[in-house]
Order: sequence, then structure tokens, then C-alpha cells
Amino acid sequence: MLRSNENYAELKPMYPLLIQQFVDDYDLMHGIALDIGAGPGWLGMELAKITNMKIVFLDISQGALDMAKENFEKLDVDNEVDYIQADVHELPMEDDRFDFIMSRGSIWFWKQPEKALKEIERILKPGGVAIVGGGLGRYLPPSMRARLQNRIRKGLKERMETRPNIEEFKKIVEKAGLINYKVLSEDEGGGRWVEIRK
Ligand SMILES: C[S@@+](CC[C@H](N)C(=O)[O-])C[C@H]1O[C@@H](n2cnc3c(N)ncnc32)[C@H](O)[C@@H]1O
Repeated sequence: MLRSNENYAELKPMYPLLIQQFVDDYDLMHGIALDIGAGPGWLGMELAKITNMKIVFLDISQGALDMAKENFEKLDVDNEVDYIQADVHELPMEDDRFDFIMSRGSIWFWKQPEKALKEIERILKPGGVAIVGGGLGRYLPPSMRARLQNRIRKGLKERMETRPNIEEFKKIVEKAGLINYKVLSEDEGGGRWVEIRK
């Protein structure tokens, strides 16, 4: 499942914009952030560049984490960092641990997304927020959005993958029995996210 740095590089202009959106929406600057299904680490890296947050990268794949570590070490930032190899369905952390949790493009691979969402809620600190789903965010200029969407569609077709539509996504989230959540969709581009608060 792990794709190379080159594949991710195709979407690279999107990551700083999505992180800027999260920072603006959730007023992020301090505390501990967790990137679930981090892959080569682009999201956590962008968050490190513009906040003082400690960044924890988590992935089921050790290969992905090795890549994230290699990429992060080249960044020359001062943020504390940690790498955890684990399955989102059974997170090896205590309750109420993280101020911010993000996960992009990973939920589509989870066998029991309802269980995983409940796990995410469990390790979120009271007052914290988690954002889980997939999409390009709201800040992309329209021409870039169209270009990146074409690349994603082409990639999905080549891999014969399908993703839940917004109605199917809502049903998955409802089943999780989260206490305080909102399903968000991006107007254009089919982004689907669940925002979890505690
Ligand atoms: C499409 S990549 C997304 C990478 C990154 N978040 C991004 O947006 O560029 C999905 C990642 O989720 C990870 N993953 C899949 N199932 C997982 C699970 N059960 N627990 C933790 N990570 C998982 C994969 O190993 C992969 O690195």
C-alpha cells in the first residue's frame, strides 16, 4: 500500500495549504499533535514548520515511518518528534493525550473505521480536536484543485479503488457513536472529513 515519495510529491503543493487551514480553523500552536496514517510525513512536517507543536507520526507500516523520519530530519526544525508503529484500531496510548489529531487519506484502508474513530476520540484531550478523512482542503486555488483532482482520479482508476461517497461516509461515522462530531464536505472536489471534539 505504501507509495513512494515520488507519488506523494505529486500532491505536495496541497499539504501546506491544508495545514494552514487546520491551523486557522483550530488555532493550533502549542501542545501535542498526532498524524495517523502519516505515510512519508508531509502533513506533520508542514505543521512543524508553522507551529511549536510536538509532532507524533503514527503508521501501521514501518517503511512509511522510516520515510517520515528521513524526510523530517532534513527539515531543520526544532519541534519535538516521535514515531509510533501501530494500528489505528488499537492505539497504544493512554486516554486524553493529544491536543490535535489529523488523519488524511488513511480511513479508506481501515477495516473497522467505527472502532478506529472511537479510539481516536479516546486519546483526544478534553478541549482537543481531531480531523479525519480525505480531501484537498478549502484553500487550493481553482486551477491547482482541478489539476490535482485529475491526478487523484487517474491514480484511483489505475489502482481500481473506490471510496465511500459522502452519504456512505456519514453512515460509517454515525455507527462509531462519537459524542461530539461534525461531518464536513468540501463544496468542490468530494472531500469528506469528520471533526471530532471532546
Ligand atoms: C494514502 S496514505 C496517506 C498518507 C498521508 N496521510 C498523506 O495524506 O499523504 C495511507 C496511509 O495509512 C496507513 N494505514 C493504513 N491502514 C492503517 C492502520 N490500520 N493503522 C495505521 N495506519 C494505517 C498506510 O500505511 C499509509 O501510510
